[in-house]
Amino acid sequence: MPHIKLINIVGARPQIIKASAIGRAIRSHFNDEITEILVHTGQHYDKELSDVFFEELEIHKPDYNLNVGSAKHGRQTSMMITGIEDILIKEEPDCVLLYGDTNSTLAGALAASKLHFPVIHIEAGLRSFNKTMPEELNRIMSDHSSTLLFAPTDAAFKNLIREGFRPENTPPYTIDNPKIYLTGDIMYDNSLYFAELAEKKKRQLLETLSVVKGDFILATIHREANTDNITRLEVILRTLKSLSEENRLTFVMPLHPRTTISLKTKLKSFYNELLNCKYIKIIPPVTFLEMTLLEKNSRIIITDSGGVQKESHFFRKPCLVLRKETEWIELIKNGTAVLVDANPEKIRDEFVRFINCGEELECPGFYGNGRTAEFILREIMTMNEIG
Ligand code: UD1
Ligand code: UDP
Repeated sequence: MPHIKLINIVGARPQIIKASAIGRAIRSHFNDEITEILVHTGQHYDKELSDVFFEELEIHKPDYNLNVGSAKHGRQTSMMITGIEDILIKEEPDCVLLYGDTNSTLAGALAASKLHFPVIHIEAGLRSFNKTMPEELNRIMSDHSSTLLFAPTDAAFKNLIREGFRPENTPPYTIDNPKIYLTGDIMYDNSLYFAELAEKKKRQLLETLSVVKGDFILATIHREANTDNITRLEVILRTLKSLSEENRLTFVMPLHPRTTISLKTKLKSFYNELLNCKYIKIIPPVTFLEMTLLEKNSRIIITDSGGVQKESHFFRKPCLVLRKETEWIELIKNGTAVLVDANPEKIRDEFVRFINCGEELECPGFYGNGRTAEFILREIMTMNEIG
């Protein structure tokens, strides 16, 4: 077996969590074959968005941290490209592993592909068909710079074919002759692995929040389209506030700093109103184990997060998606997640429908077998063996 030097690039919260699945699979199955060099761009830097995950999810400390911090899209991405390029030239890896659709993903894809290092893209093929989302541009450009593309869902795989990727390509794979796979989702690996541990280690959080298992709502909001458009943000939160009061149900809301900053600076008096509302519990971002516990024990999940939408499915919870469209369309087709946008009537109607629906949800296994990380690493090994 050849030895592989793999550069693993993370930057934002969900990517750090995803790196845990890959790190675990390397340690369990490829410890002698793969050397992982972890690069953190520093896109997320608050302890609750970064350090907590390394500690809790047994991820080894980054070998490099570019500490780019927050900035406008172009500046932030260009600082990352510069930093990643230097590391690639120094390390000369066999391949570069990227996750998802953030600016860190795009920076890694551009830096690596221009230096002719094969790019491996996990979560390839997802599309919202809304190019006003920064993530949509990042996805398209990252996919088209990649050599191995791992699509987590059938819909994502089909999107790649629609864009000209050919499932019949044969080795050797290159950026001009890429290989596309239908895998599963490495976040499903994580949720399976950590679900029990979350109950064991974090159970007291429910008490701390004074919520009862199965009788609270979990809500997160962080998308640019919701946080930077104050009208949307206010409409969403006012609707959630009235639903919490009318139903006397606690809404637990671990807020991304971006949302808190918008509330504090642009909706100050409404923010204070929310902080004083009996049924709204705004809390700082929680750890992944805490989030898993909250998801497992909630009644309904309301979110604009990609990751949280899927986790609602893993834990069989109804999900209201605070967006016009989603990349995870199988959830919508399944009827267990609903697009409610920032439309108060839709939010209200779907909330009431789900609250009154006593039935167990049907949540088919859309996201693989929980061993997707291992599959991906095996394919990377094969690519390196056959050139
Ligand atoms: C980024 C990703 C988004 C992903 C999300 C995961 C892009 C374009 N967006 O969005 O796809 O869903 O991460 O959480 O890459 N901030 C802090 N502390 C931090 C980091 C950010 O306070 O540690 C604040 C800053 O005010 C910053 C803002 O959040 O300007 C936005 O951060 P940024 O990383 O640009 O985008 P996210 O909204 O986090
Ligand atoms: N998450 C977390 N703590 C929080 C909110 C989210 O650990 O306070 C986890 C969540 O369980 C999921 C991931 O972060 O695994 C999703 O990240 P986020 O919502 O920031 O981004 P997206 O998935 O939309 O890109």
